[in-house]
Amino acid sequence: MRILVTGKNGQVDTALQVLGDQLGLEIIRIGRPEVDLAQTDTIEDAVRAARPDVIISSAAYTAVDKAEAEPELAQAINGDAAGELARLAKNLNIPILHLSTDYVFAGDKDGVYDENDAPAPVSVYGKTKLSGEQQIAAQTDNHVILRTAWVYSPYGNNFVKTMLRLGETRDALSVVADQHGCPTYAPEIARALLAIAQQVAIDLDPTIRGTFHLTGQGATTWAAFASAIFAGAVQRGRKDVQVNPITTAEYPTPASRPTNSRLNGDKLNAIYGLQLDPWEISLADCLDNLINVPIKDPS
Ligand SMILES: NC(=O)c1ccc[n+]([C@@H]2O[C@H](COP(=O)([O-])OP(=O)(O)OC[C@H]3O[C@@H](n4cnc5c(N)ncnc54)[C@H](OP(=O)(O)O)[C@@H]3O)[C@@H](O)[C@H]2O)c1
Repeated sequence: MRILVTGKNGQVDTALQVLGDQLGLEIIRIGRPEVDLAQTDTIEDAVRAARPDVIISSAAYTAVDKAEAEPELAQAINGDAAGELARLAKNLNIPILHLSTDYVFAGDKDGVYDENDAPAPVSVYGKTKLSGEQQIAAQTDNHVILRTAWVYSPYGNNFVKTMLRLGETRDALSVVADQHGCPTYAPEIARALLAIAQQVAIDLDPTIRGTFHLTGQGATTWAAFASAIFAGAVQRGRKDVQVNPITTAEYPTPASRPTNSRLNGDKLNAIYGLQLDPWEISLADCLDNLINVPIKDPS
């Protein structure tokens, strides 16, 4: 099976390559410099040359704060390129899986967000990702949109790696404690995406298509997540770092972020029988990959 993936250096596309290789699936990643999603006319030739059975649209303009200053570029990549990929999938008569974000929600709901809740993004990034969802749905019914959140992994840039890097030179860090979300491990996203890709490639059932939420089980805050990262780092031989909880107001950023972006994964579990591991379990795996624990001298 040939699976075209957008992105060549990102967290999820790398995890897809690693797992796809293990499963014997042919993963063809496209990205810069050959294919620039901001130039939609560079996409078609690469997609057709790959002759894919399924497209996974993973690449995105993910710099949430920078997007506030570059809305047109973010829209071209997150909105228009997603629509172009869906148009090509429709022409090739193949399914498209597309990653979206918890940041399509405003964050003012009391409970967890499910797929029926109305999106109302509060940032340029969230608005452009919502545009991508809408452009895909307008092009083809043969789509699966998966909203994920707070992605981390041994690859690329993410919160876990930033905390570990800052912790090397600092004894204490201030971290926002009033934003609630679901940390999600890229290798777990890849596991779900490849299972879904293999099913939609052979099963035309419309009920397995549409929009789903895909996050690690459980929820936390950035500050509690940071504390868990440092606790795990201490277990692996690193020094402790104190986490001082602060409010969003004390850490102003160019982009607004939802206070609560916890997603409910029940629909994915009911339709696909897929549940991602609890974030604490995945965090342990990530730390095992990132921190080299010295092997004890057996003498
Ligand atoms: N990271 C998160 O916390 C998070 C949360 C919710 C949803 N998501 C969604 O999950 C998906 C995967 O995220 P991720 O964390 O794997 O992202 P990532 O690590 O930031 O990687 C983004 C990928 O997109 C590529 N890309 C960006 N602009 C491009 C362009 N103009 N042309 C071609 N490729 C381009 C990047 O390539 P370069 O190396 O060339 O830049 C990179 O390979 C995205 O759709 C994102 O919106 C992520």
